[in-house]
Amino acid sequence: MSDSALGVLELSTEEMRSLGRQVVDLLVDHFAGIHHEPVGRKVDCAELQALLGERIPEEPSDARELFGQLKEQLFTNMLHVDHPRFFAFVPSPNNFVSVMADALAAGFNVFTGTWLAGSAPAQVELIVIEWLRQICGLPETAGGLLVSGGSMANLTGLAVARHVQLQDELDGAVAYISDQCHSSVARALRVLGVPADRTRIVQATDEFRMSVDAIRAQIAADRSAGLRPFCVVANAGSTNTGAVDRLREIADLCRAEDMWLHVDGAYGAPAVLTEKGKTLLEGIELADSLSLDPHKWLFQSFEAGCVLVRDRSLLLRTFQVMPEYLRDTQGGSGEINFGNYGVQLTRSFRALKLWLSLRTFGLANFRKAIARGIELAEIAERELRGSADWEVVSPATLAVVTFRYLAAGLLPEEIDRLQGRIVEAMLADGYAIATSTVLNGRPVLRFCTINPRTSNEEIRETIRRMGQMGQARAPR
Ligand SMILES: Cc1ncc(COP(=O)(O)O)c(C=O)c1O
Repeated sequence: MSDSALGVLELSTEEMRSLGRQVVDLLVDHFAGIHHEPVGRKVDCAELQALLGERIPEEPSDARELFGQLKEQLFTNMLHVDHPRFFAFVPSPNNFVSVMADALAAGFNVFTGTWLAGSAPAQVELIVIEWLRQICGLPETAGGLLVSGGSMANLTGLAVARHVQLQDELDGAVAYISDQCHSSVARALRVLGVPADRTRIVQATDEFRMSVDAIRAQIAADRSAGLRPFCVVANAGSTNTGAVDRLREIADLCRAEDMWLHVDGAYGAPAVLTEKGKTLLEGIELADSLSLDPHKWLFQSFEAGCVLVRDRSLLLRTFQVMPEYLRDTQGGSGEINFGNYGVQLTRSFRALKLWLSLRTFGLANFRKAIARGIELAEIAERELRGSADWEVVSPATLAVVTFRYLAAGLLPEEIDRLQGRIVEAMLADGYAIATSTVLNGRPVLRFCTINPRTSNEEIRETIRRMGQMGQARAPR
């Protein structure tokens, strides 16, 4: 056998350094210049196929040249969720330290599934999880792990609920969720085998929060029908309006009913670091399991979600399997094999970015950045209330405000259609982007303002442009 394949996937040290500098320059230009760039664009499939589609290349190309084309080909043809004028969905205003940490995690290709392969990285994850536990006020028995995002965190928390409460026996099992829950909650229950007709969707009638009496009444009805209520999912910052369910009352109900409380704080939970958020999120510490996403309001790059479980041993009970080829990974006490705490065995080093970001900037600056997001939504609300063209549908809550453009003399259905037209116009314009949702059966526009780089002026200018778009598109 010859060694002829030895160098085939290698770059020289000079080429590596040069490519690395090119990448860092691209990123620094992106971070430094983002206010002056458009929020991005959505491109149709045919155009992208023409631009990017090519046959699988048999022969090599120059890496610098390929990387040099990326900005034009890819990064201008997408929406920038980290852009200070990206107000749609839940933005992800990541930070540069997090980006560099991810480069290192990928570069050293860190494996965090077992202590044997990644002891120091596992210790870093333990430390980060402990910080998040303290931030959320869960007891010392709590622990958890980093996962891909909120969807996986919800799935993981609910898998533990199923195992502990039902011993994975789904006959008659019933879960209770809010009509304001994120879609990933219903999907997680479906994946876990809870039939849709036994996922009770409780109407969130009071400021988009579930009525605890309604949950109680439904549980009683289900018990009398011989069913097995096992879990309530409450919101700690709903995606639609930022609403927080009455966590303490729901926790009391769950204790009394011997049920599991899963709290979805995927985007909202980090607000507990601020004065306002702490008051709103009172009771979050009572969750049996809690989702929160560092890739949302803790300013990390994708992918970084987290699930915390009040009794961390339950994660192991739910997920541990020990095949013969992993027997060498069984170590002494304190050696955590994160691959046994969730679904993923091979997992990347997500903890590094949060660990380095928190140490670089300090928690006090994270508090300020989160508080700024809350303030920006309040600024938007004041601006909207200052004009008769706008109706505020839900007030600024945990950095989310929803509103409708109103034009005099239009029918309600015409006003409904106008909200979607404003979103389309924003996409075409590229200055800023907001998206719509539906509240009380009617389309509304929505801002999520968790990006601390957004200026007051950018909020005002966005609303001014949206008003103009509404005016120009209103039927006459
Ligand atoms: C409240 C809530 N839960 C869950 C999710 C899903 O998170 P991910 O997209 O990270 O899977 C989101 C996403 O916006 C969310 O806002």
